[in-house]
Amino acid sequence: MNSGTGLVDLRSDTVTKPSAAMRRAMADAEVGDDLFGDDPTVNRLQEQVAGLTGKQAALYLPTGTLCNEIAMHVFARAGHLVVCEENAHAGEHEAASAALLSGIAFRHLRSAARGLLTAAQVDAALAPDPYDMAVVDLVTIENTHQVGGGTAAPLDDVRAIGKVCASHGVPLYLDGARIFNACAVTGATVTDYAAQADALMFCLSKGLGAPVGSVLAGDAAFIAEARRLKILCGAGWRQAGVLAAAGLVALAEGPPRLADDHANARRLAEGVAEIVPGAVDVAGVQTNIVFADVSGTGHPAADWAAALAGEGLLVTMVGGRVRMLTHRDVGPGDIGTALAAWRRAAAAFTAGG
Ligand SMILES: Cc1ncc(COP(=O)(O)O)c(C=O)c1O
Repeated sequence: MNSGTGLVDLRSDTVTKPSAAMRRAMADAEVGDDLFGDDPTVNRLQEQVAGLTGKQAALYLPTGTLCNEIAMHVFARAGHLVVCEENAHAGEHEAASAALLSGIAFRHLRSAARGLLTAAQVDAALAPDPYDMAVVDLVTIENTHQVGGGTAAPLDDVRAIGKVCASHGVPLYLDGARIFNACAVTGATVTDYAAQADALMFCLSKGLGAPVGSVLAGDAAFIAEARRLKILCGAGWRQAGVLAAAGLVALAEGPPRLADDHANARRLAEGVAEIVPGAVDVAGVQTNIVFADVSGTGHPAADWAAALAGEGLLVTMVGGRVRMLTHRDVGPGDIGTALAAWRRAAAAFTAGG
């Protein structure tokens, strides 16, 4: 429950408050000026992530969006294309930043399975243009896929996509905002997934529970250029070690407890499916994201979101569906409270016609 408000907040897994250990680590953090590269806590986080991902270097950044935008800017030239799934965060949910910052256009691919792409689809998308007009500079994939419903991509599928990209000489970038959630489901490690891509990012501020921050990883030249772009974008934060300290705790505390979030999401999905039959693909809920398609109720998602908020449950709307994410600050009791809010909202709609 969102402390002090009496609300259950399932709008995102970004709404968590820092844990006690994070707050202690932040208070005690050794810091320096990160623009000069001498914040020891930021450096420790970056070294740890480089080790964890098996990449040469890593860069601590304020947001996952900035990681994605910087990565695309490094890999893709203005006027060229980036291949991604049609609902990918990097292509669709970053306020058209790629157009403004990098002059990039996207070649969108339609997923047949909850946001996942196949190697065959990517292969077809990278076929040379016989008229030499379209140039694809990068393929980006998302794992877990958010709008797909938190879908975890099997390691073999990611490996196959990596091989196809390599055969075309096109780099592969992994938006692994929730890669640890994927690992908790597939049993693969972050290193396994990272080995298939030229570069990747993950967010500390989502399921892992840190208040701020994401980390980009890749080879040394990629990270050197990314660091230049970070400063160019005005994100040369100074004593960022106060935040990185929480990120280090998140890396230690976060991954082992993600299975709890997934179990809570499954229970939530089952409960909503009973209250609004047909709204939730319960079997498809693999991680911490639950979508409810309420279109069959005769009331749009916006009305449900407002009704649920009135009953003490905060949700978001994505693509006309109600979206809910479980996270560290909601426990099994909160799932019961959330389902009670769904029941009351459904009863009010039934009574009101
Ligand atoms: C898959 C994915 N990538 C990137 C991001 C962007 O992360 P941030 O909110 O830190 O900018 C999000 C945010 O929800 C996301 O879901």
